[in-house]
Amino acid sequence: MPKRDRWSSDDENDDEGKTSIGVGSDGAPRPPQEYHSALPPSSSPTSSSLTATSSSSSPNHLHNPLLHGSRSVYDAYTRLSHIDSGTYGIVWRAKCNTTNEIVALKQIKFDDELVKEGFPISALREINVLLALKHPNIVQVKEVVVGGGGMREKNDSGEDDDDSTGMEQPQIYMVMECLEMDLQRAMMTPDPSTAPLRGGGRGSVQPFAQSEVKFIMHQLLSAIEHIHSHWYLHRDIKTSNILLRRNGHLALCDFGLARKFEEPARAMTMSVVTLWYRAPELLFGECRYGPKIDMWSVGCIFGELLIKDAILKGNGELDQIQQIFKLVGPPTETSWPTFSSLPSSGTFKWRTGSSTSTSSSSELRRRFSLNSSFSSTGCQSYLDSAGFDLLEKLLTLDPTRRINARDALNHAYFTGGGVKMQVPEFFFA
Ligand SMILES: Nc1ncnc2c1ncn2[C@@H]1O[C@H](COP(=O)(O)OP(=O)(O)O)[C@@H](O)[C@H]1O
Ligand SMILES: [Mg+2]
Repeated sequence: MPKRDRWSSDDENDDEGKTSIGVGSDGAPRPPQEYHSALPPSSSPTSSSLTATSSSSSPNHLHNPLLHGSRSVYDAYTRLSHIDSGTYGIVWRAKCNTTNEIVALKQIKFDDELVKEGFPISALREINVLLALKHPNIVQVKEVVVGGGGMREKNDSGEDDDDSTGMEQPQIYMVMECLEMDLQRAMMTPDPSTAPLRGGGRGSVQPFAQSEVKFIMHQLLSAIEHIHSHWYLHRDIKTSNILLRRNGHLALCDFGLARKFEEPARAMTMSVVTLWYRAPELLFGECRYGPKIDMWSVGCIFGELLIKDAILKGNGELDQIQQIFKLVGPPTETSWPTFSSLPSSGTFKWRTGSSTSTSSSSELRRRFSLNSSFSSTGCQSYLDSAGFDLLEKLLTLDPTRRINARDALNHAYFTGGGVKMQVPEFFFA
């Protein structure tokens, strides 16, 4: 791994172990309540310059040297359409007024929960991390622009339409390359070629070809390898944070929960990663975790690509644990020797031979049977033995035995003589 860069200053040394991040109804982590105390007085160039100098917590009182140098969103961009409203910001599709380039603008939310010392910490982190990590499979941030309230949108007659909402309130927008769709939506979109010729209908959701799954996984792992080799954890890898272009190009986004890690690991908050993609060590209270938590999420996504549905859909932490053990078997002295030392290892009991299988991987094998054919009823991609081996290595309970990103990229699934990678056929509405 390369030496730590300038972002490795103490700026993210934020006592996360003492903070608590809530969990929303969808299982997605919510921002911590006490993060304001974590913001250092002066740290990285970006974070110090983005911090309010006034004692007021109101964003209206921001005095910001970095942002004062930023372009105005009104002059630079024309809003075209709304893409999505996430936890930390609203995302717009917009056109650059000088180059006509289509970009995505993430409008940073300034609600009281997120803003403590004048600027939402998750946005600061995201900008910091994205500026530090440049990679073809990581969404590219172009600039940060400012505005006072809403921005101009074209009305029906093509004229500028002033958005009158909150014109006085300053707004910050992260300008990013714009990709067509996220993987969650791409997987749900039916294949129009399967629509009945007469009588309407939108067609059915078809499985990806193995070559397509491979292509997506390779790009995702390349992004993760880059992040981990620069000492960052993403901590919220899921299908809605994976963006795709029509040409199959993939870019990971949403670095609002990303942070630096160290070896040996120091204490960080466990309330990270959306529940369905959360690694077992986090569910059992491990606060000294590392890059392997992201690898578990990648394993969940691999399975999801194969069946086009999330593979571990727990409706709470206990149910999530139950489902994990059912799929890969509960921990044993051999499979996860240090399990009993985890803070919450004693709080969950399971019966051998009940719904949680005793033999590891037997259920995994059943659900991801080798060489499944493309069936018209179920949606399951073809998986060869190398693919199954990689899936098993990603969904390994013991994080010390779970495969890392570099080894995954060098795995026989990609390097062996199997099916070649191929650009997927995404069906964009
Ligand atoms: N650069 C982009 N291009 C296209 N769509 C994007 C882009 N960035 C985000 N999105 C869309 O907006 C959604 C929310 O953005 P995200 O960065 O994940 O915010 P949040 O932290 O609120 O989840 C994503 O799930 C994706 O659908
Ligand atoms: Mg997101």
